[in-house]
Amino acid sequence: MKKLLLLLVFFSTTQLLMSQNRDELYRPKIHFYPPKNWMNDPNGMVYHNGVYHLFYQHHPASNVWGPMHWGHAVSKDMVHWEHKPIAIYPDSIGTIFSGSAVVDKDNTSGFGKNGLVPLVAIYTQHNQQRADAGTSDFQNQSIAYSLDNGETWAKYSGNPVLKTPGIKDFRDPKVFWHEETKKWIMTLAVVNTIHFYSSPNLKDWTKESEFGKDLGAHGGVWECPDLFSMNFEGKEQWVLLVNLNPGGPNGGSATQYFVGAFDGHEFKTTQKEVLWADYGPDEYAGVTWSNTGNKRFFIGWMSNWNYANQVPTSAWRSAFTLTRELNLLKTDQGLRLRSLPVNDYVLIREKGNVLMNQNLEKGIEINLQSQAYRLEIRQEDLKDLRIVLSNAKGEELVIGYDPGKSEYFIDRTKAGVSDFNADFAKRFTAQRFFKRKAGYLELYLDATSVELFADRGATVMTTCFFPTAAFTQLRISGKGTANHVEWEELKSIWK
Ligand code: FRU
Repeated sequence: MKKLLLLLVFFSTTQLLMSQNRDELYRPKIHFYPPKNWMNDPNGMVYHNGVYHLFYQHHPASNVWGPMHWGHAVSKDMVHWEHKPIAIYPDSIGTIFSGSAVVDKDNTSGFGKNGLVPLVAIYTQHNQQRADAGTSDFQNQSIAYSLDNGETWAKYSGNPVLKTPGIKDFRDPKVFWHEETKKWIMTLAVVNTIHFYSSPNLKDWTKESEFGKDLGAHGGVWECPDLFSMNFEGKEQWVLLVNLNPGGPNGGSATQYFVGAFDGHEFKTTQKEVLWADYGPDEYAGVTWSNTGNKRFFIGWMSNWNYANQVPTSAWRSAFTLTRELNLLKTDQGLRLRSLPVNDYVLIREKGNVLMNQNLEKGIEINLQSQAYRLEIRQEDLKDLRIVLSNAKGEELVIGYDPGKSEYFIDRTKAGVSDFNADFAKRFTAQRFFKRKAGYLELYLDATSVELFADRGATVMTTCFFPTAAFTQLRISGKGTANHVEWEELKSIWK
């Protein structure tokens, strides 16, 4: 009996040490992740009084999904983050699902007091008991406000402010102020369509229209939408982001988008193709910040519902993408979304190197000194390209371009641990629609992720991986010449 007990203690201590070691190997250097336990969607991002707020779906008691809270973090530059206490807790109406936050400058809600401008959060309350009881009224929209820069939140006594008309999937409100009609507009995901609502005060909502029944990808349920305007060559364009799970271009969850027009009532588009903000398997629930003027900043959850609950970290689970700035790009096929990391990531670049006019058939070898790197490759004539990250254990991650198929790819089939889910060890591709001879590719590497920004952000792919030892070698090879190869170590964003 004593022996058995000793064996058990030995076994569980070894397990604990193993998972702690693994966590240290996988800890992000340049990405946001929760202080502990589970995180999914980014929520309520808003800029207020010089601070960028980031809230997120959080289960503080476990490293798997469960009763959702809104975790909170703040930043001055959207690169470095400071953790804050949990902002919004579940209550008798339900747990706190995804949603958004606005600065109610004109105090339309009446929550402001003594001239203080309220921050108002609009979120879905999910009632698991009612869902389990087989009802269809368990997702309703509620609001809460803060008068102290997001430090503390008071829930509105009249919650919920928008009840479901008896539809089960009725969630993830994203709200903005529409100046022309002087109303708040709510973009809501309803099964696999979008419903728009309007309100003068964030409390009383009127349905305006529906969108998307026969448009876009419908492989799964629509979630976490976002509608915003962008100025392109002096003209107002509207972009509607719609997250979808499953049915993404490389399996599972992903962010699709539509470019069109919005008049305060209806969103219309002539777009025929299905387009994705990110073609990799590991960007989901991506939405943008409120109150950032003419600029649009985006962040996504760096995971996929296919395996999010199983990825091999323990102390925390999952991270967000780098913060990206969105812009529009004119192509032969129409306007496309383009995204690149925000400028301030320049500030974390450390020692680096530049090589000019390299023969790719000979290849370039780089010894990696750290786990976080930026790599840039420019070519006057983009041909076959292969970037291989490897370690002494023979594991490798391959990123590249295949000119025969006009596609970018990321192959993680041999990149380390993958036995936690059959969907993980795969090769992912994205069509290059940018028809220029020249190539321009930027990669951001972290301990367990790579983000590829190809053609100045016209094609983006985010992919996670879990090697059993850090990658220490980088080899770039292919055909033709790499005219400019540049890389820098990136300083950790964490203290
Ligand atoms: C998307 C999502 C949302 C929901 C939240 C729950 O990942 O399913 O639709 O509000 O996660 O955590």
